[in-house]
Amino acid sequence: MKEENMKILVIGSGGREHTLAKVCSNSPLVDKVIVAPGNGGITKEFLTFPLDVEKNDQIVTLAKQEEVDFVIIGPEVPLCNGAVTTLASEGILAYGPNKEAARLEGSKAFSKDFLAKHGIPTASYGNFSEIQPALEYLSTCSLPVVVKASGLAAGKGVLICSTLKEAEFAVQDMLDGASFGDSGREVVIEEFLEGEEASLHLICSGENYVTLPISQDHKKVGEGDTGLNTGGMGAYAPTKLVTDEMLIEYENSIVIPTLKGLKADGIDFRGTLYIGLMLTSNGAKVLEFNVRFGDPETQVILPLVQEDLVPVLIQSAKAGTLPSKLAIKNQSAMIVVLASKGYPESYPKGEVIQQPELSSEDSQIIHAGTQLNEKQEIVSAGGRVLGAVGWGESLEQARDRAYELCEKIHFTSKYFRKDIGHKEFSRT
Ligand code: AMP
Ligand code: GLY
Repeated sequence: MKEENMKILVIGSGGREHTLAKVCSNSPLVDKVIVAPGNGGITKEFLTFPLDVEKNDQIVTLAKQEEVDFVIIGPEVPLCNGAVTTLASEGILAYGPNKEAARLEGSKAFSKDFLAKHGIPTASYGNFSEIQPALEYLSTCSLPVVVKASGLAAGKGVLICSTLKEAEFAVQDMLDGASFGDSGREVVIEEFLEGEEASLHLICSGENYVTLPISQDHKKVGEGDTGLNTGGMGAYAPTKLVTDEMLIEYENSIVIPTLKGLKADGIDFRGTLYIGLMLTSNGAKVLEFNVRFGDPETQVILPLVQEDLVPVLIQSAKAGTLPSKLAIKNQSAMIVVLASKGYPESYPKGEVIQQPELSSEDSQIIHAGTQLNEKQEIVSAGGRVLGAVGWGESLEQARDRAYELCEKIHFTSKYFRKDIGHKEFSRT
């Protein structure tokens, strides 16, 4: 493949993909970025194509038709469906793990067994596909207890149950296929861990990896981290929560054993490994593995990278050599997600969005659940609609810029948390 004047295809339609497309288009190696299917804001900025991300053949057809040099797969669903494996079989280079490696996210039961086998710290657990043994195991657990659908569930398949009754109901509901379909046909019952969460992103090429700045997401819909779990209502990076010394410790106890374990198990891991960490009083434990960039974490961590990421992504996809470290800007970044009121339950769609023309280099609007209507106006089309991103020399400055932008964007059901970063601001 050629590694200049490149044409890159980004697959996906969220804020993560908007950011990936922007990052790629800033690379001197890249001539053109196209996105499929994209969203309203992406379509105003990049050439987009309609596409069902769940159909590998459509991804291959588009990559061939547009003669792209490199494909970046954003979301977990096509990765777990083996999009990278299928593209590779057609001679098309793509960023992300192959089908087998993507099981680390696609099956929580698989990832828990992997963690246990390789002695990597995680919550104690049991995997079950039959109701009776699951109920028996539950009766031995202390409360609260965590019940998870093993398969993909868009962040909704995790229930923290404070009573045994609630947990029994969750297990039955999942195993019956009632609420989570096939994703719930196997469940993980897990010890509840207490602590603060951190998102650690790595770009991997087999056992080699390079770390990205550590970020913190805000999963709950309400201020003070209350209410229902969402895909993420805001994030910031870097965080004082994890010092350089702690990161080295986590690399030794978690990252290196994970990548060595994958290799020992015959799994060739390339692409992003996003490790959800719980920092407990007994050290850091793995809450989950994701095999793609986090959303909204991507929107804050990628722009903090000083150097061109495109060659790094290509090296990862080719199982080549990665730099041992990336140059990171001495800045902070924050994203505040503008959602539709009612999310993550039901919410209105189709509301016209008014957004300012941005001239500042210190803030950015990232599109997620938006589309164009017949009048070519940008309208809301999802729960998480936009992201307001701010940068600065300090997190306070980044926050002020992000929130200033939130006030300048209008749509009827606009809702956002006013306290993104609250834990970081209370750290001394
Ligand atoms: P997961 O998709 O497994 O990361 O779970 C989603 C969210 O549920 C996590 O970000 C945590 O906030 C929470 N969670 C998951 N597992 C546990 C656990 N064992 N203990 C406490 N909270 C958990
Ligand atoms: N922000 C959480 C995730 O991407 O899974």
